Amino acid sequence: MTHILHRSIAAPLPIAVGGAGPWLTDSTGRRYLDASAVSCLGHGHPAVVAALHAQLDRLAYAHTAFFTTEVAERLADTLIASAPAGLSHVYLVSGGSEAMEAALKMARQFFVEKGEPQRRTLIARRQSYHGNTLGALAVGGNAWRRAQFQPLLIETQHIEPCFAYHCQRADESDATYAARAAQALEDKIQEVGPETVLAFVAETVVGATAGAVPPVGDYFKRIRSICDRYGVLLILDEVMCGMGRTGTLHACEQDGIAPDILTIAKGLGGGYQPIGAVLLKQEIYERFANGSGLFQHGHTYLGHPMACAAGLAVLETVARDNLLENVRRQGRRLRDRLHERFKNHPHVGDIRGRGLFYGVEFVAHRAAKEPFEPKRKLHARLKREAMDRGLLVYPMGGTVDGTRGDHVLVAPPFIADEALIDTIVDRLGEAVDAALAAP
Ligand SMILES: Cc1ncc(COP(=O)(O)O)c(C=O)c1O
Repeated sequence: MTHILHRSIAAPLPIAVGGAGPWLTDSTGRRYLDASAVSCLGHGHPAVVAALHAQLDRLAYAHTAFFTTEVAERLADTLIASAPAGLSHVYLVSGGSEAMEAALKMARQFFVEKGEPQRRTLIARRQSYHGNTLGALAVGGNAWRRAQFQPLLIETQHIEPCFAYHCQRADESDATYAARAAQALEDKIQEVGPETVLAFVAETVVGATAGAVPPVGDYFKRIRSICDRYGVLLILDEVMCGMGRTGTLHACEQDGIAPDILTIAKGLGGGYQPIGAVLLKQEIYERFANGSGLFQHGHTYLGHPMACAAGLAVLETVARDNLLENVRRQGRRLRDRLHERFKNHPHVGDIRGRGLFYGVEFVAHRAAKEPFEPKRKLHARLKREAMDRGLLVYPMGGTVDGTRGDHVLVAPPFIADEALIDTIVDRLGEAVDAALAAP
């Protein structure tokens, strides 16, 4: 009998008791390979553990209403030294949803202080995920996650995602499709009135709700120029795809653009501490600094020293051990192994991703791209079958429209070697076949 309200009440959970490298161990001694996106350095990394011990001995907490701390300042310096062009300051929070909430309020306050208070409309994309707090959920575009909370959500306009497998026409080149997908933003801005639009929010590579969907061609260059044309802020959510996951520190580097506001989380703390951050451009900072003199927001645990120590140690380790190079190398292996294992599979419709961030989408019929019946809950079955084989991946349903479709996200740690990638794909292959064979 548990007194915890767990995420899912139906099935009892194994008890995690230990972690070493890419492996987690439960109380029965079973080991699980952790390829579920957060743990970028694996578990128990000595450099992060040492940094946390040292920080705990020095200072565990000082309220940010009274103090800054050395470790928070160093983390901010490190983040800005490697930030996309123009981003000059960091707001340090405790996770991805908090980062998104702060980003939305920052955008709104920026325009209020700029003398454009009529800007209130947020535009985002269907099939995206930005977090579960009310603001983040409102911009998120997953119909199932939003449905019962709809009456509580701030109004957001959603446009089509840039989702090649589902939306690119057979006769359309990448360039034509990228142009059409980006045009949806301009059309929406025109429809709602350009002077009312606050920001466009998008995941650079869509994670949880679509399955590692990268943009096509110059989609984000076009998005950037549309935002510039209408004075709309571009908020990129790299909570899942950022911090090295795609082979560059920021996913948007590969698209050749910089946002006005960038959110990061998961890979920043690597699971060692709850931490997220909002990176903002100089103009926003200066607007606040020369205007009200504050960002009207705040939480008790902003810039928590222990969280900052973890974030700093993770970033330093990724740089020192040249792990982005390994993400790119092992990412190519992951891509190749997934293609070998699944490309002729009758129920695999698409394999996509970047770096160590891949998605496999399942279909009942390949030619028609027809998804499985949602009531079959293939994704839930796949998660169980993978866990039974000692593999933690991230299967999810609703890939197509929030209800129909199943995919799995595969996101191994950056310390992975060839053997680990092979083990992940082998176990995943067995789990997929077992899940599909189940009634
Ligand atoms: C892209 C994206 N944004 C925001 C979030 C929310 O982050 P958190 O769960 O840390 O609140 C997530 C979590 O999966 C995410 O993938």
